[in-house]
Amino acid sequence: MLFTALALLALAAGITAAPASNTSAVYRKVEEYSGSNFFDGFDAFNLPDPTNGFVQYVDIDTAASSNLTAFIFQEAVDASNAFVGVDYQQRVISNTSAGRNSVRMMSKNTFGVGLLTVVDVLHAPTGPGVWPAVWLLGNVTGVDWPNSGEMDIMEWVNDRTYNAMTLHTAPGCSVDSTPEDYQGQMLTSDCNAQTGEQGCSISAPATAECGDQHLATAGPAFNAQGGGVYVQEWTASGVTTWLFARDRLPQDLADEKPNPSSWTTKPLAKFSGSGCNFTRDFQQQQLIINICLCGDWAGNQTLWDQTMRRTGSPTCVDYVAQHPESFKDAYFEFASIKMYSSNPSPPGTAGINKRDGVRR
Ligand SMILES: *[C@@H]1O[C@H](CO)[C@@H](O)[C@H](O)[C@H]1NC(C)=O
Ligand SMILES: *[C@@H]1O[C@H](CO)[C@@H](O)[C@H](O)[C@H]1NC(C)=O
Ligand SMILES: *[C@@H]1O[C@H](CO)[C@@H](O)[C@H](O)[C@H]1NC(C)=O
Ligand SMILES: *[C@@H]1O[C@H](CO)[C@@H](O)[C@H](O)[C@H]1NC(C)=O
Ligand SMILES: *[C@@H]1O[C@H](CO)[C@@H](O)[C@H](O)[C@H]1NC(C)=O
Repeated sequence: MLFTALALLALAAGITAAPASNTSAVYRKVEEYSGSNFFDGFDAFNLPDPTNGFVQYVDIDTAASSNLTAFIFQEAVDASNAFVGVDYQQRVISNTSAGRNSVRMMSKNTFGVGLLTVVDVLHAPTGPGVWPAVWLLGNVTGVDWPNSGEMDIMEWVNDRTYNAMTLHTAPGCSVDSTPEDYQGQMLTSDCNAQTGEQGCSISAPATAECGDQHLATAGPAFNAQGGGVYVQEWTASGVTTWLFARDRLPQDLADEKPNPSSWTTKPLAKFSGSGCNFTRDFQQQQLIINICLCGDWAGNQTLWDQTMRRTGSPTCVDYVAQHPESFKDAYFEFASIKMYSSNPSPPGTAGINKRDGVRR
């Protein structure tokens, strides 16, 4: 816990939603990725990108030796943050290479329902061609995507300034959360990944009300404010995502005894309703951190033509191949990621899915 001293100064949250009844289960910390052990709990995925990105995911040793993963020492707290980045030194030959070197890390453990994922992130990738994400993917032996579900916590493309939170499932899961219960805007409510492709998705506002502060949810302003703490809860009744300032955490969260039902800050997103069975459509989840480049979303030609033509490059791939210098700031910096569980079963061990991690 790197910021306990600051967190102890936290003030009571100002902007409020009606607190839910105090029924949440007791969460205990079952995993922590932080400090010099941050990378120990992950394997690197180095197969071709399942989302058609112009990216070459490297193995964990290559990532470390080429500084795509590293530690950033923070003198003030006498601890190291974790750096996860993209190669920014080499040009890439677009017609002979799979793409620019990058990292896709997948947790060695999987986590069942009754899960609280707390991501303390100081910096996240932004800019032309990037498609970063921190997300959870169902990992059940023999079950193909999306049949054990996917829950995206942080995700955006290119120069977007707002976070997208999305669920992907098999047919038969749709949500009907009350709009007043969350700060974002629901774009799609059918989580079925096979017909709609998009899943059910809530866009955060660019600027969210988090306690007594206004916080950017993505993009350069998110980095300028020093990031924030994204928290996602998965229970039998739904999936909810909050954003907090690092020095304004609810006291129970700062104390590592989180009780989400007592939080008064309105979440960014809430997926709920009787149209989805959140214990059937989502099962054992694996934590993934990756930085894709181009691919099915960031590389969409219509999107590129509409928003990224100003780069002077006709396609996303062309841009990513020719502009290594553009990726110097395309990195994640994490203080920690903590996993809390209310589930009596211990975390599971991840296996290889038959069709790993196709998503948008
Ligand atoms: C709600 O839960 C918190 C944390 O467990 C506890 O401190 C508080 O007293 C509870 N409130 C009520 C009304 O039960
Ligand atoms: C990685 O970073 C270290 C420390 O800054 C530096 O000495 C080394 O040359 C870098 N390696 C590469 C491949 O960039
Ligand atoms: C690759 O692209 C370059 C420049 O566009 C072209 O000159 C070259 O012939 C291409 N090579 C192959 C193998 O297609
Ligand atoms: C959800 O699905 C599980 C597993 O199929 C089932 O046991 C449970 O009864 C379902 N819950 C509801 C509310 O239908
Ligand atoms: C690209 O994005 C546009 C606009 O959002 C969308 O209509 C189109 O279906 C997308 N194309 C592909 C191939 O995904």
